[in-house]
Amino acid sequence: MKLLVFAGSSRQGSYNRRLASVVTSLARVAGAAVTQLELGSLDIPLYNADLEAVGTPPDVIRLKQVMLAHPAWIICSPEYNGSYTALLKNTLDWASSPVKNDPDWADGTLPFRNKVVGLMAASPGALGGLRSLGHLTTLLINLQCWVAPRQFALGHAGQAFDERGHLNSDKQLSSVQAVIDQVLWAAARLSP
Ligand SMILES: Cc1cc2nc3c(=O)[nH]c(=O)nc-3n(C[C@H](O)[C@H](O)[C@H](O)COP(=O)(O)O)c2cc1C
Repeated sequence: MKLLVFAGSSRQGSYNRRLASVVTSLARVAGAAVTQLELGSLDIPLYNADLEAVGTPPDVIRLKQVMLAHPAWIICSPEYNGSYTALLKNTLDWASSPVKNDPDWADGTLPFRNKVVGLMAASPGALGGLRSLGHLTTLLINLQCWVAPRQFALGHAGQAFDERGHLNSDKQLSSVQAVIDQVLWAAARLSP
């Protein structure tokens, strides 16, 4: 199964990227072919329909292609003010926008439709960014994704990782594994 993993933060020391890296390692052991995507490495401006009218940025097309090629995704979402980040929203908005004068990308839901998506969050706060996941679920269902019912929010993220980036707690590790297992299980059954 081809699994796409990304975090909604471009911060150097991002806890969500660390969590995404844990997901990548565990999913590879589970047999998945994992692509860990770094949203901050994409050259994607703040969405503006006037800009888009001039031409969809090449990295948006590349992003759509990568999304389309992966039936399963896991997103690690930071929580800003009870929701997901502007980086994540901007990236998903561009990815869902039809490309003008390009019949291949005329349907904005194409990169999203029928994807099985697992959601996780990490935050220094006690709730672990849990509230961002409800908002993200709504957005993804609107774009025709299957959102896995099992989710995980990593609280007190500043203390959760050791110096090698591994999770300190076996309980948290098994919660991450449970999301991965459910996503891979469902994607094997739901992918066209
Ligand atoms: C504008 C802003 C709002 C935030 N709001 C929340 C919040 O509502 N809940 C929360 O748990 N953390 C909140 N935080 C703290 C983030 O969880 C913290 O910065 C976290 O490290 C971001 O994820 P990252 O480490 O992957 O970059 C907020 C941070 C910023 C900058």
